[in-house]
Order: sequence, then structure tokens, then C-alpha cells
Amino acid sequence: MTPAVPPAFAERVWIVTGANSGIGKATALGLARLGGSVVLACRNAERGATAREEIVRSTGNDKTPVMIVDLGSQVSIRSFVEDFRRTHNRLDALVNNAGIFRRRRHVTVDGLEEQFAVNYLGGFLLTHLLLDLLKASAPSRVVNVSSSAHEGGRIDFDDLQGEGRYRGFRAYGQSKLAQVLFTYELARQLDGTGVTVNACHPGVIRTNFGRDDWPWAVHLVRPFFKSPEKGADTPIYLAASPEVGGVTGKYFRKKAPRPSSERSRNPELARRLYEVSLDLAGLRP
Ligand SMILES: NC(=O)c1ccc[n+]([C@@H]2O[C@H](COP(=O)([O-])OP(=O)(O)OC[C@H]3O[C@@H](n4cnc5c(N)ncnc54)[C@H](OP(=O)(O)O)[C@@H]3O)[C@@H](O)[C@H]2O)c1
Repeated sequence: MTPAVPPAFAERVWIVTGANSGIGKATALGLARLGGSVVLACRNAERGATAREEIVRSTGNDKTPVMIVDLGSQVSIRSFVEDFRRTHNRLDALVNNAGIFRRRRHVTVDGLEEQFAVNYLGGFLLTHLLLDLLKASAPSRVVNVSSSAHEGGRIDFDDLQGEGRYRGFRAYGQSKLAQVLFTYELARQLDGTGVTVNACHPGVIRTNFGRDDWPWAVHLVRPFFKSPEKGADTPIYLAASPEVGGVTGKYFRKKAPRPSSERSRNPELARRLYEVSLDLAGLRP
């Protein structure tokens, strides 16, 4: 039975991936300010510790452990979940925020194209490994930080890993579309469980995102981008606001539901990608 009322913020447990930088750090900070435990899921211990210091200093909340996860490694994701389960017995919201942009093709330890692996499949696997805990903690939430770049994305089933002809922006668009398709498919599957799943575009935000990979022109306009705090508004809203407690399977921008691309709303496409992803993530029983 799903309890009608979620626990007080002070009792909640949140996970934010990529919590040491940009939108993820601002999201973790905003959630820490609300209360409860915020698990800072980072790939680098030192960068995680630096972010933690800043979060504790500015919120006074020291229930903000850094836990290591490399979303480009399925072994690392599985080991993160083991660590998390050893130390926590509930999960109120998982924010799949970590992401990268790669102009040139890179391959993860699992042999997958890095943007596909980190931006999409890593979150897909992490979410599935935590699903039983999310269900047991319902009402609970999954928030996928996608991008308006999903609008130009296509899922190339013949070359999902960009082995043929790799284009950085195309691979990024595919990974962000995959996140939105996953959001809708999982929301359909979890209907009635009390676990909601939503995606968002955070805005165009001044972060470390793709810093070394952007064309020079982006560096020129970067100062005009919005702050990470602005970028965290919608992820925090989706993870914590009572206004969206029962809302699921939506794509948000500026804290309001917006239509995502037509392609992203194709349930057959979502189902097909879901099936392929189960295999790629090693989740097929
Ligand atoms: N900035 C924008 O304008 C914008 C617009 C639309 C969508 N987004 C989305 O917002 C999300 C956050 O990006 P951001 O702008 O805040 O960029 P950011 O400052 O570069 O932060 C990205 C975070 O992801 C982490 N990360 C990267 N690869 C990882 C891996 N293999 N395993 C675990 N963590 C990893 C990074 O860790 P390290 O610091 O260790 O690299 C960092 O903490 C991304 O999903 C991005 O696609 C951003």
C-alpha cells in the first residue's frame, strides 16, 4: 500500500548523480537545505569532498555523504548500489543528472560509446538496481535531467554506439532522447506503484559541461548562460515539491510540463529501446 503522505524532509534520502559540479551540485545543495540525507554520487572522491565541504558550509546539513560511482562502468554502478544499500534503508528520490558531451568518440570500460553510456544507460541501470527500494519507499521519485537537445535526437538502432559515423552532437542528442523515452516507458511500467518518473530540460546553464569539447564559439557566449542555481530549480522542484507529488511521465522546463519532441512520445520506440537497454545493461534475467 502506498502511503498517502510522504515523510518529513528531515527523514528523506535523496541521491544526486554528478553532484560535485554545475547543476548536480546546485541540486544537491538545494535538497540539503530542505533537510534529510543527500547522497553525493560522484566519480572522483576529491572533487566530491570539495563539493561536500561547500554544501555543508552553506546549508549546515552534514548528512551529505560522498559515494563513488562512475556511470561509465557497470561494475562501479553495481558497487555503488551495494554501498548505498549497506548504509541506507530508503530512497525518496533519485536524480539522474550526471552527463557529458564528447566531440570525439570515446569508449567506456564496458565497450560502449561514452555519451550513450554515461548520459543514458548508466542512469537506466542505476534506476533499475534501486527500483525495489524506491517502491518500498513510495511515494518516491525518479528525475532524469535530459535536455532540449533531445528534440534533434534520433535513436540509431543500426549503430547505437556510433561505431560507423560518429558525430558528437548527434550522439549527445541520441543520449538525451533516450533519457526522455526511458522516462515515459518507466512511468508507464510503474503506474500505480507510487514511484513517479519525470524528465526535464534545466535551461542553458553556465557549468563545466563539455568545457573541453565545445567549439570556441560556445566559450564566447558562455558568460550569458544562466547560473547553476537556476539550472537546479526544475530538478529540485521535481524531486521535492508536493505540487508534483502525483505527476508522472512528463517532461518539464521551468517547473512546468511541456511537450517533448514527437519522436520522444512514440511508445513503440520507447519499448524497443527499453528492450535493447536491458541487454546492454546486463539486466536480462
Ligand atoms: N549546462 C547546460 O546548459 C545543460 C543544458 C541541458 C542539459 N544539461 C544536462 O545537465 C546535466 C548536468 O550537467 P552540467 O551542465 O551541470 O555539467 P557539469 O558541470 O560538467 O557536471 C556534470 C557532472 O556529471 C559528472 N560526470 C561526468 N561523467 C561521469 C561519469 N562517468 N560518472 C559519474 N559522474 C560523471 C561530472 O563529474 P566530474 O566533475 O568528475 O567530471 C559532473 O559532476 C547533464 O546531464 C547535462 O546533459 C546541461
